[in-house]
Amino acid sequence: MEMNKDIECVLVSEEELDAITTRLAAEIDRDYCNTGRPLVLVGILKGAVMFYTDLIRKIKRPVEMEFMKVSSYGASTVSSGCINLHLDIKRNDLPSLDILIVEDIIDSGRTLSMLSALLRDRGAFSVRTCTLLDKPARREVKFDPDYVGKQIPDRFVVGYGLDYNEYYRDLPFVGVLKREIYSH
Ligand code: PRP
Repeated sequence: MEMNKDIECVLVSEEELDAITTRLAAEIDRDYCNTGRPLVLVGILKGAVMFYTDLIRKIKRPVEMEFMKVSSYGASTVSSGCINLHLDIKRNDLPSLDILIVEDIIDSGRTLSMLSALLRDRGAFSVRTCTLLDKPARREVKFDPDYVGKQIPDRFVVGYGLDYNEYYRDLPFVGVLKREIYSH
């Protein structure tokens, strides 16, 4: 396949993405069998969309779909734990639900740490997190996701949902963006 001219190298190939989603789906099926509770996968827009739709098709047990969209405030207020909720889940049955938050990437850890806390505060029976990519080198708050597709180095990655200025989300693989594209 011809690689996009703006991509320096492929970090996670289509084949590896397929293997990752297969493995994670099996782990999720194993961990949530016989719970007697609905399992709700909460996808975080927009980056998680590709990963979410591939993962959910491989999970064999019944799941429900929900989505949230968030953004951080500026750097100064982020440290005080503020995120903007652009799209929220509207459910009044959280105490009877197992929630699994699905993300494309963990960077500072703020988004997932705050969303997990929010859904726990609202009374969800359980809240776990699943991320395709984890950049531990960038962590600013301590946060350990429950399911991780792949740990990656601190490179600027795009594709398979991840963007730079809203582009590249449609690439079928995760690649490293050439520095010249974003450093000018
Ligand atoms: C990205 C990513 C995570 C978050 C991770 O979203 O999808 O939600 O940043 O960063 P953190 O660990 O430092 O909180 P982004 O704000 O780029 O929005 P998008 O998913 O719509 O691209």
